Amino acid sequence: MQQNTSNRINRINESSTILMAQKARYMKENNIEVIDLSIGEPDFNVDEYIKISAKKAIDENFSHYSPIPGYKDLRLSIVDKFKRDNQLNYSIDNIIVSNGAKQSIFNLILSLINKDDEVIIPKPYWVSYSEIVKISNGKCVFIDTNIDTKFKININELENYITAKTKLFIFSSPSNPTGTIYKKHELEAIAKILNKYPNIFILSDEIYEYINYVGKHISIANIDNMYKKTFIINGCSKGYSMTGWRIGYMAGPKHIIKSCIKLQGHSTSGPCSISQKAAYTAISSYPNKDKIQDLMKRRDLVYNNLNKIKGLKLYKPDGAFYFFIDISSFYNKKYKNNIIKNSTDFTMLLLENEQVVLVGGKDFGNDNCIRLSYAVSNNKLIIAIQKIINFIKNIK
Ligand SMILES: Cc1ncc(COP(=O)(O)O)c(C=O)c1O
Repeated sequence: MQQNTSNRINRINESSTILMAQKARYMKENNIEVIDLSIGEPDFNVDEYIKISAKKAIDENFSHYSPIPGYKDLRLSIVDKFKRDNQLNYSIDNIIVSNGAKQSIFNLILSLINKDDEVIIPKPYWVSYSEIVKISNGKCVFIDTNIDTKFKININELENYITAKTKLFIFSSPSNPTGTIYKKHELEAIAKILNKYPNIFILSDEIYEYINYVGKHISIANIDNMYKKTFIINGCSKGYSMTGWRIGYMAGPKHIIKSCIKLQGHSTSGPCSISQKAAYTAISSYPNKDKIQDLMKRRDLVYNNLNKIKGLKLYKPDGAFYFFIDISSFYNKKYKNNIIKNSTDFTMLLLENEQVVLVGGKDFGNDNCIRLSYAVSNNKLIIAIQKIINFIKNIK
């Protein structure tokens, strides 16, 4: 099969989060009850006031192509959002709206990266960063981290990874998959280093901005001159629970935003007109704080129950809705005669025997861990936790 497909497509891996979701769906279709903690989306419905504006957009016949970078009113509401929430001053030409944050990231990497350009990515990372860099023929340069520092990089070592070919530094804060949030002084220390290199841009993925349990979100673009070289990624998917509506956006230096518009013009054109009208209403308001409080309670429920389980190593995440749990103490032990060698074995055995779906950490760049998403109901979480504990009890 591979001989028919391009080298570009052969270079990339299928997203394991999607593979696990498919397997879970298959089991459900066969009437097996599964609890899915693999999914990267909140289980909340979209707020009524947002839905009303989508219905209104249909009735008012917003059924035609929108401008490629998005409707003007939406882009202006994003400009206002950056003033309101981040004290950042952009103009409309700094903004492009895309079909989800994923397309914004795709646009940027394809617009910036030439063959063999180096992109620094701390591990663990959101799975698509590395694959999009590979599509663009660039080279990923990974920085290892560990759970004892909440998976944050050792900033003193950052400069060791920079070469004449480094073009981009990508990170997410709050992070998927770890829930880690970089503090202001840490962002300042990163900025101090990156500011020395005029050719390096920063992709700051802030899609989990509003899912923050420890304080106000701080963007690296707020620090020193970073504004001039930072691209902020954000969107409606996580904060407003609008994953299926596919609205993401990016803010950054105008000349590169212009290139992203050119690329988007030849790929998807402007995003869905109805979703854009709903996104305008969403972004003009602040996300529902009750939902964030709810997620925080679920985080505490998982933490209080799993932290006491021998062999699991976890920390209480500061944001997003994931735990990235070190399970490597179970490696080379047996579950019902199956030796657990890696995170894929662990998640597969858990799925087959206890019908709970988690994601192995390998594709996030750390095979010692599994990712657990707690964006599901309390009831499901309580049952899933018990099932995970039962599973672990039987590992000998
Ligand atoms: C860190 C991160 N960035 C970007 C995205 C993509 O978001 P969207 O659904 O808006 O494309 C996700 C979705 O899981 C994510 O976790």
